[in-house]
Amino acid sequence: MKGLILAGGAGTRLRPITHTSAKQLVPVANKPILFYGIEEMARADITDIAIIVGDTADEIREAVGDGSRFGVQVTYIPQAAPLGLAHCVLIAREFLADDDFVMYLGDNMLQQGVGDFVERFEKGRAAAAGEDSPVPVAQILLARVDDPRQFGVAEIDGGHVVRLVEKPTDPPSDLALVGVYLFGPTIHEAVRAIEPSGRGELEITDAIQWLIDQGHRIHHDVLDGWWIDTGKKDDLLHSNRLILETLESRIEGSVDDASTIEGRVVVESGAEIVGSRVRGPAIIGERTKVVNSFVGPFTSISRDCEVVDSELDHSVVLEESRILGIAGIADSLVGKQVEVTRSGRRPRALRLMLGDHSHVDLE
Ligand code: DAU
Repeated sequence: MKGLILAGGAGTRLRPITHTSAKQLVPVANKPILFYGIEEMARADITDIAIIVGDTADEIREAVGDGSRFGVQVTYIPQAAPLGLAHCVLIAREFLADDDFVMYLGDNMLQQGVGDFVERFEKGRAAAAGEDSPVPVAQILLARVDDPRQFGVAEIDGGHVVRLVEKPTDPPSDLALVGVYLFGPTIHEAVRAIEPSGRGELEITDAIQWLIDQGHRIHHDVLDGWWIDTGKKDDLLHSNRLILETLESRIEGSVDDASTIEGRVVVESGAEIVGSRVRGPAIIGERTKVVNSFVGPFTSISRDCEVVDSELDHSVVLEESRILGIAGIADSLVGKQVEVTRSGRRPRALRLMLGDHSHVDLE
């Protein structure tokens, strides 16, 4: 079993935050989203992995390297333009050869690992071959969602997947396709057979539909744990909350006597907490300084930041940003190297989504 992780594409929905960087590298609890996917694969003993990269290839290569620190081997496959999820399979043909593979969307996070899902596919294929019944050629993962219109949606009839539609205006069910798929080599025929969709992409949903139309068997599972497509701000903050729920306290940096730490808090090495209150779950990154401030629950502050005379909670702050003299920051996503300062009266509450390198002065 090989792994194919999709980390190309344009992060339009998270703009301006990912205007300059890869959305798959935005951290959740101070770890890039993409790393959770790679770790999941490693845990399922999938060690031969290709990552599809686009415009942000350099950044992704720099972050992931050759994969050895995850215990996997990574091959990079450049994609010239985001031409669709099925296009990714098309250009990975040589790497995938005729092996079964798990395809994982680099911006998806799910609570349940991929191990059980992979095992079910392998067992299903082996059992069908033994019984001389049709061997499943693909397995999809579904989750019930409130607004299926933003996803690929499955229609199930008599326990079988009969139809898949991408981002339907009139969804046939509330079962969305989660960004983890399992395929046998028949998928290569399907991605060659389909045409680009209305939005000009080779859709993986169309490729799977082609398999169904050809009479192939598709297995499906419905997820019980949480799943998040982190491509949107609120989802990103939501996954940050869910991951922080599982945080274990660790204080490696310094906390002075005038500061208090409540609940589960991680203070990474070189971080300094001075005259402040940190109420977990929260994580303070390496070399970050928190001075005279309150950092409230469900907040992740990345490395090399400065938070002075400020109050924030339920927020994600990316590396090298400075928040000086601002109270009431909540539910916010602050990009890299952002500076938020104040020269006027204290605002009561602020909800921010600030892209990399922004500079905001509240008068
Ligand atoms: O998140 C689940 C949804 O993911 C499914 O329900 C949909 O059926 C599926 O089409 C997909 O929809 P999105 O619109 O959310 O896909 P997005 O464009 O965000 O791309 C998903 C990942 O794949 C992301 O990490 C970028 C990468 N990608 C995307 C395209 C279109 C590529 O590497 N190359 C591409 O050409």
